[in-house]
Amino acid sequence: MTDDLARREAEELARRGAELAAELAAGVIARPEAGDEERLVEAALRPKRLDEFIGQERVREQLSLVLQSAQRRGRPPDHVLLAGAPGLGKTSLAMIIAAELGTGIRITSGPALERAGDLAALVSSLVEGEVLFIDEIHRIARPAEELLYVAMEDFRVDVVVGKGPGATAIPLEVAPFTLVGATTRSGLLTGPLRDRFGFTAHMEPYSPAELERVIARSAGLLGVPIDPAGAAEIAGRSRGTPRIANRLLRRVRDFAEVRADGAVTRAVAREALAVYDVDELGLDRLDQAVLEALVRRFGGGPVGLSTLAVAVSEEAETVEEVCEPFLVRSGLVVRTPRGRVATPAAWRHLGLRPPGPVDVLPLELGDAG
Ligand SMILES: Nc1ncnc2c1ncn2[C@@H]1O[C@H](COP(=O)(O)OP(=O)(O)OP(=O)(O)O)[C@@H](O)[C@H]1O
Ligand SMILES: [Mg+2]
Repeated sequence: MTDDLARREAEELARRGAELAAELAAGVIARPEAGDEERLVEAALRPKRLDEFIGQERVREQLSLVLQSAQRRGRPPDHVLLAGAPGLGKTSLAMIIAAELGTGIRITSGPALERAGDLAALVSSLVEGEVLFIDEIHRIARPAEELLYVAMEDFRVDVVVGKGPGATAIPLEVAPFTLVGATTRSGLLTGPLRDRFGFTAHMEPYSPAELERVIARSAGLLGVPIDPAGAAEIAGRSRGTPRIANRLLRRVRDFAEVRADGAVTRAVAREALAVYDVDELGLDRLDQAVLEALVRRFGGGPVGLSTLAVAVSEEAETVEEVCEPFLVRSGLVVRTPRGRVATPAAWRHLGLRPPGPVDVLPLELGDAG
């Protein structure tokens, strides 16, 4: 091995160590959002064309029709809204749209568009047919949003010159373009903005089988030997989210390289994910703590959010926004007016027998006694 290679390898190991330490410290291994470091790693794993994009069959079919018919007409396609939870592939799809159209893409985000002027400058610099990608479009400031409606509908921006009563709006034509908006909170979009998208793709969580394919593809790109059972084990714990699947794959790979021969099998994946505190359903340490508290300390509830949060030494918002959505979606917890309640599935997940009407049936009592 040359010195250079050895140095690069040492750097790579140090980088991975730092990445892992950061993830463990933040407790984010099973979270759908990405950190800055992770976004760099992700770029390498992004599918580049529609036929490389796994799953989301309906969205893919609809989108491919929208793109193909526009190409036949020789016009830029209608504006597209991509709606779905973090890590489901919205940014990837936005880039794919531009690639399929063979056009350029300009990337910005709602929070970056504070002033209407910023957006006016951006939109008027677009080349005909280009894709303008606005990530987190629900966070766009109101004045910019109003300018955007007009640009989307009439391919025109009104540039306001001067202030106060003497201000005049000078209309400026813009080249026809396609806006691709991405949002994790489509409910926060105003009606007028939503109405100006010709097509909305609703992205759903992926099935375990689809995630297996995502993992096999990423493993190929990363050069990680993995067998189908290993991929299935990781897929089942990835919370329906390709980003989490890719992240768990990288962590399992690290474990496989250090503690095994580098190949990912079911046994290696199970051991690795136990080390990282990701359980069979994909719950991480905090999710597990919330479930344990709800079931063991509060008898399954109902218990109020703030009481539950105190029991796990967390902020109520963290429990509500970070843990609960997945616990609810997995059918482990339900929200009731009187508080959070553990479902029978939650009890069983913790290896306990759920209480309930079943227990008081004479037959069951007889069984138990
Ligand atoms: N359908 C898919 N097939 C293969 N890989 C995918 C797919 N969807 C997403 N990924 C992978 O998951 C990662 C996250 O995807 P992406 O960044 O597109 O998600 P996002 O919806 O934009 O998330 P966010 O809301 O946080 O911006 C990427 O690295 C990408 O490679
Ligand atoms: Mg994104």
